[in-house]
Amino acid sequence: MSKNPVTRRQFLSYTLTGVGGFMAAGMLMPMLRFAIDPVLQVKASGDFKMTDKKIADITAEPVRVDFEYDQVDAWYESKVTNSAWVYKDDSGEIVALSPICKHLGCTVNWKGSDKHPDMFYCPCHGGLYEKNGKNVPGTPPRGPLDAYPTQEKDGFLMLGTPIENPFVKK
Ligand code: FES
Repeated sequence: MSKNPVTRRQFLSYTLTGVGGFMAAGMLMPMLRFAIDPVLQVKASGDFKMTDKKIADITAEPVRVDFEYDQVDAWYESKVTNSAWVYKDDSGEIVALSPICKHLGCTVNWKGSDKHPDMFYCPCHGGLYEKNGKNVPGTPPRGPLDAYPTQEKDGFLMLGTPIENPFVKK
């Protein structure tokens, strides 16, 4: 007979603790993984979104280009629709401006006002921008429209995340 026998109570206690811990780990691991998995996934930064606008079709006249992409925000996936005003400047460089007014975020339109041809017009409070996105002094916006970085793929326009307008000299 052993000098330190395990009592029936101790045996049951060890066994139940072990089995209980194993079962708890089995339940908690999927929950933990679900909780932190989206955070651990590597996000593509600075990625460009494809549009259906052919580079060859872009002229000196700004046109609205709508584009759609899937957005993953942690656990929530959704379709996002964005727009850009796109044209070629005098040197042939593609300009893609955000339509989001820098006053309070309304949507600006090219030639949106008969009184101000060849300008972007914001209907909310009469904001005006020049063709390159520069805000017109004396109107509500306090800064130029943001601009999308652009790329070409297979002859089509791709747009990045809007940045501070590089076409407006300070
Ligand atoms: S939101 Fe555009 S002028 Fe106010």
